[in-house]
Amino acid sequence: MKFFVDTADVAEIKDLASSGLLDGVTTNPSLIMKAGRPMLEVIKEICAIVPGPVSAETVATDHKKMLEEGRKLAKIAKNVAVKVPLTPDGLKTCKALAAEGTMVNVTLCFSAAQALLAAKAGATFVSPFVGRLDDIGQDGMYLIEEIMTIYRQYPDLKTQVLVASVRHSQHVVQAAKLGAHVATVPPAVLRSLFKHVLTDNGLKAFLDDWAKTGQSIL
Ligand code: E4P
Repeated sequence: MKFFVDTADVAEIKDLASSGLLDGVTTNPSLIMKAGRPMLEVIKEICAIVPGPVSAETVATDHKKMLEEGRKLAKIAKNVAVKVPLTPDGLKTCKALAAEGTMVNVTLCFSAAQALLAAKAGATFVSPFVGRLDDIGQDGMYLIEEIMTIYRQYPDLKTQVLVASVRHSQHVVQAAKLGAHVATVPPAVLRSLFKHVLTDNGLKAFLDDWAKTGQSIL
């Protein structure tokens, strides 16, 4: 499973990229607002830090303007994945950009039927939002199960399932068990994946005992 980080905070991205475990980045207009910096500049910087796909989202709602925006975003760097919403205009734009060789991430996916359409439109990634479904009392992970089941019926489909709106480590674990290709994870959740209290306690005990031996390895 690939790990993307869901943020437009360049300092966070630099820090997480240094782990060597980061495969890509996703941003959206709300994350750009939080970063408080010009979008094109931020995306360019992120693309230079992380060689994997960096999602940059269009904001037009009509096909013509969305395509224009998508082409402009794609020009920033080779690893930009243009994000379009799961609407008829978004999918039309997805098809056009994919035909031009641009990676496309179809976002705001909340049903298996929508994911099927995204794949037909040639999306590189489809982003089902699990946390937002959980928030309204539905089962976000069940949607991932449905999409994976459908996509497996068509081995020629190239679209990757990018699990989005991840709220905690169990979302990541469940997504991996279902074989989802990618999870995009907020920085704090990504860091939480490293943590276990028994790891911390175990390490402390080993180091305390080591100190008592008076030895050194180097
Ligand atoms: C995905 O690409 C989105 O940016 C993101 O995962 C949305 O998450 P949220 O529901 O926490 O805003």
